[in-house]
Amino acid sequence: MDFQLAAKDTHSRARAGTLTTAHGEIQTPIFMPVGTVGSVKAVPQVQIKEEIKAQIILGNTYHLYLRPGTDILEQAGGLHRFMNWDRPILTDSGGYQVFSLSGNRKLSEEGALFQSHIDGSRHLFSPEKVMDIQRKIGADIIMAFDECPPYPSDFAYAKKSMELTHRWLARCVQHLSGTECPYGYEQALFPIVQGSTYRDLRKASSEFVASMECDGNAIGGLSVGEPEETMYEMAALCCDILPEDKPRYLMGVGTPWNILENIALGVDMFDCVMPTRNGRNGMLFTTKGVINIRNKKWENDFSPIDEGLDCATSNCYTKAYLRHLFVADELLALNIASVQNLSFYLHLVAEARKHILQGDFKSWKDNMIPQLKQRL
Ligand code: GUN
Repeated sequence: MDFQLAAKDTHSRARAGTLTTAHGEIQTPIFMPVGTVGSVKAVPQVQIKEEIKAQIILGNTYHLYLRPGTDILEQAGGLHRFMNWDRPILTDSGGYQVFSLSGNRKLSEEGALFQSHIDGSRHLFSPEKVMDIQRKIGADIIMAFDECPPYPSDFAYAKKSMELTHRWLARCVQHLSGTECPYGYEQALFPIVQGSTYRDLRKASSEFVASMECDGNAIGGLSVGEPEETMYEMAALCCDILPEDKPRYLMGVGTPWNILENIALGVDMFDCVMPTRNGRNGMLFTTKGVINIRNKKWENDFSPIDEGLDCATSNCYTKAYLRHLFVADELLALNIASVQNLSFYLHLVAEARKHILQGDFKSWKDNMIPQLKQRL
């Protein structure tokens, strides 16, 4: 995998770059739509590509391992072929989901013992097992197996957890070096910085992660309930230590303004369920601000959902029509709202990149943030 920086902002730590993976190039900064089980909820692949213009999407090891399982994925020739998506894919390692979704989990040095949220069956995820599963899924970027401690965690727990994540990372790296992708292309491993909200743990974790010299690095354990300012403080500290010439991925973040602030701190890659999940609940992110489309005020607003986007769905349906679909519980509402929100997120990071390349990112960002937070 290759990462080339095209520009660095002079008034912030923002960067624009190009990441080259086995399934093509990604222009950074980038937002990655979440397609946990091999589907971006309510959005078909053709719209993800042509309307949303996503360059990379996410899958999840925990979900894909439980269903459809690695046998089916291997028979299909990997997740790309299975879901008919020929652009890059990143898979999260499942550590986070084991802790948030499954019942009855038990952590040990070996790994995480857990019960499936689907049928209660028992499974062990070890770093080695999770690397093997991600080999079979076949994503271009695969994540190390980590523990994401809850917020708040006391210092002793956060330290113990971080050290376990580091030992698991060393096992991931060791195990991967003796295996290859069954589909014949390169897969890049991204390790994950942990350390909760403790500056000295974040520093130690960033240094340990950097020392592994992987192709890119991730920052985990944020956007788990801590104040926004704490998230920014931790992200800034990690970005300062993680190597400049490798992409930095902030996991699970966030609102449109969180994304711009973290780009300003030196983050290159983002993912979040917010545009799809909130979209399905009728919350729209638009170039004019945030809309609750169920609100009666949109009942007779026959203007396009968002004229500011280059997206057929956002341009051709009206707010009044989308409100009607939500009120009538029509399934099409879920598609239109998800496409609107993802198109907006991809538009936002493309604009950020444009302004980094132009050299006026910082002033553009400072001007954008109040607009993004506006409730219409
Ligand atoms: N998604 C959001 N945060 C995290 C994290 O800390 N670890 C992993 N593996 N996935 C995440």
